[in-house]
Amino acid sequence: MKSYSSSTWCGNVSEKDVGKKLVLCGWVAKFRDHGGLIFIDLRDRSGFLQLVCKPEDKEVWAVAQDIKNEYVLSVEGTVLERSAEAVNNKIPTGRYEVAVEKLEISATAQLTPFHIAEKTNAAEEIRLTSRYLDLRTDHMQKNIKLRHDVTFAMREFLNSNEFLEIETPLLSKSTPEGARDFLVPSRMTPGSFYALPQSPQLYKQLLMASGFDRYFQVARCFRDEDLRADRQPEFTQLDIEMSFVKESDIQAMCEDMVKAVLKKVTGNGAKQSFPVLTYKEAISRFGCDRPDTRFDMQIHDITAAFEKTSINFLQKTIDDGGKIGAICIKQQEFSRSELDKWTGHATEKLDAGGLLYFRQKADGTVTSTISKLLPADFFDSVKNCLPEYEAGDMIFAVADGFEKAWQILGRLRLDVAKALKLIDQSKMEFLWVTDFPMFEWSEEDKRWYAMHHPFTSPKDALNKDDLGGVTAKAYDLVLNGVEIAGGSIRINSPEVQKQVFDVLGMEKTEYESKFGFFLKALCYGFPPHGGIAFGLDRFVMMLAGEESIRDVIAFPKTSTGSCLMMQSPSGVSVEQLKELGLALSKNK
Ligand code: AMO
Repeated sequence: MKSYSSSTWCGNVSEKDVGKKLVLCGWVAKFRDHGGLIFIDLRDRSGFLQLVCKPEDKEVWAVAQDIKNEYVLSVEGTVLERSAEAVNNKIPTGRYEVAVEKLEISATAQLTPFHIAEKTNAAEEIRLTSRYLDLRTDHMQKNIKLRHDVTFAMREFLNSNEFLEIETPLLSKSTPEGARDFLVPSRMTPGSFYALPQSPQLYKQLLMASGFDRYFQVARCFRDEDLRADRQPEFTQLDIEMSFVKESDIQAMCEDMVKAVLKKVTGNGAKQSFPVLTYKEAISRFGCDRPDTRFDMQIHDITAAFEKTSINFLQKTIDDGGKIGAICIKQQEFSRSELDKWTGHATEKLDAGGLLYFRQKADGTVTSTISKLLPADFFDSVKNCLPEYEAGDMIFAVADGFEKAWQILGRLRLDVAKALKLIDQSKMEFLWVTDFPMFEWSEEDKRWYAMHHPFTSPKDALNKDDLGGVTAKAYDLVLNGVEIAGGSIRINSPEVQKQVFDVLGMEKTEYESKFGFFLKALCYGFPPHGGIAFGLDRFVMMLAGEESIRDVIAFPKTSTGSCLMMQSPSGVSVEQLKELGLALSKNK
C-alpha cells in the first residue's frame, strides 16, 4: 500500500461504491474468525463497515491472524453486495462488505479498560480517565459532531447577519458575574494576578464603544463555583453584543438564530415566536424563573378557599400574610404509602413545613390530610381558585410565605411530573423570561447584589427607597426548564453606572480602581447597546437529549473540578512558585 490516505469513510460506503476498489483506514470494532473466513468490523468517525479476509489471499490472511480489537488498520479492497441472508439492517452499511486485498496494521492496541461499544456503560470515572477511548464510542462521536454542527450553524447565521467574530483576552481582570475567579499569577509583576474571564462582558461592551456594532465570539469562560450536571468550571458561551438595539431586537435575532440552528441540525425549525413571561408571571405560575412548560400543572393561589378556616396553622399562615399555593394533578389516585412518600419528599427534600393533599372522587369520597376539618363547600370554592380542578384530581398544597411556598411547589411540580412521566420528551419548549428584578437582597451578607450583572440597565430611574422593586432590562432564554442564554440592555451612562456600583455597596475608591477604565470609556460616546450569551454546552446538551453537559464536552472536568485523564490540577515545583514570587502556606 503506497499511501495511507483513505478514499472514503467506512460509514459513507453505499450502492454507488459496489464493485469499486477503496482504501479505508480505521479501528477494529469487532473481529470474528469463522475458520474459513475472517470478518472484521472496521470503525471510523462515520460508522462501521464489514471487511472479509479469505485464506486464498495468503498475505492478507497472515496479517489478519494477528489482529485484535482496537488495532488500527489500512485496507485496500473491493466493495461487494452481501448475500440476502448476510444483510445487517442495524447499520447503514449493512448491505455491503469489502473483500480485503491489501491489509496493513498501522498500530496495535492493548486490551482497553472498557469495551468500546455504541454507548459504554463503564463508570464515568473510568470513561473520563481514558477519555480518548470514550470519545471513540458512537454516542460521543455523535455528540461532538452535533456540537460542531451547532457551533458552525451559529457562526454561519451570525456571519450572514454582519456580525464580526472578535477574540478577547483570557488573561484578564476580574469582572463580577457572581462566582469566584480563577487567578493566574504574573511572573513579570510579582504579587499581581490576572483573572480568567467569567465572561467577556466588559470587553464586548468596550467593542461597542469602538464601533463594532455587531460582535460575537465562541468564548471560553471560567467560574470557580460549585459544580452540577449543567455547570463546568470552564465552559463555552456564544457571546453576542449589538449596538443601537432594544430588548425585542436581541430576542428576535436570537429566535431567528435558534430556528436556523434547529433547521440545520434537526431538519425542523422551532415555533415562529417564543412565548414571553415576565419574571413575576414565571414565579407565580411555575414557582421558578426557568419554567419547564412541556407540561401544565401550574401553581394557583387557593388561599381564598381557606378564608373562613378553623384550622389553626392555616389561619396563622394567612394572618401572617402567607399564602396557600396548590398544584392539580389530573385524575390521579395515590395510595396511602405514595401520599406518605410525597409528604416525606416535600418536607425532607424540599424543606416544606408539610404537604396538604385533597381529592374528592366523583362519588363524593374524600382523601385528605385534613378531611375532617374541611368545610362542606371546600371543593366548590377550590374550583374558583383552581379552574382546571375536576372531581378525581389530586390537589397538593403548601402553606407558607409566598416566596417559599411557591419555590417548593415549583420543585414539587417538576418532581411529580417526572415521577408520573407527564413530560413529553420530544417537545422543545423555548420561552423568554423578562423583567427580572435589578437587585436581590442577601440576608446573609446584608447587602444588595445585581441579579444579572452590574452593567445591566434598569428599566426606570433607580428608586433608592424601593431597590427590590427596580426592574432590569434583562432577559433569559429557557428551553425545557433549563436556562440556555441570558442577557440584557446595558447601562451607557457613567452616572447611572456609578449609581449601580453605589447600590452594590462599592466605595468610589473601589469602583475607580476596579472599573475606572470602563467609567472613563462611558464618557467618550458609548452607544446604547445590549447583548446575550448562550451557554453553548447547555444548548447542545439539550439538543443531544443528554442529562449532563459533560457528555457534550470533549474533555470535561469531574464534579470536583479535576481532569482524571491529565490529573489536573496538580502540584508545581518550588522553582516555579519561586519564579512567580509565591510560596504555599504551611497549613494547606
Ligand atoms: P450568564 O452568567 O447568565 O450571563 O451566562 C450565560 C449562559 O452561560 C451558561 N452558563 C454556564 N454553562 C456551563 N457551566 C457554567 N458554570 C455556566 N454558567 C453559565 C448558561 C447561561 O445562561 N455576561 C453575561 C451575558 C450577557 O449579559 O450578555 C453572562 O455571562 O446557559
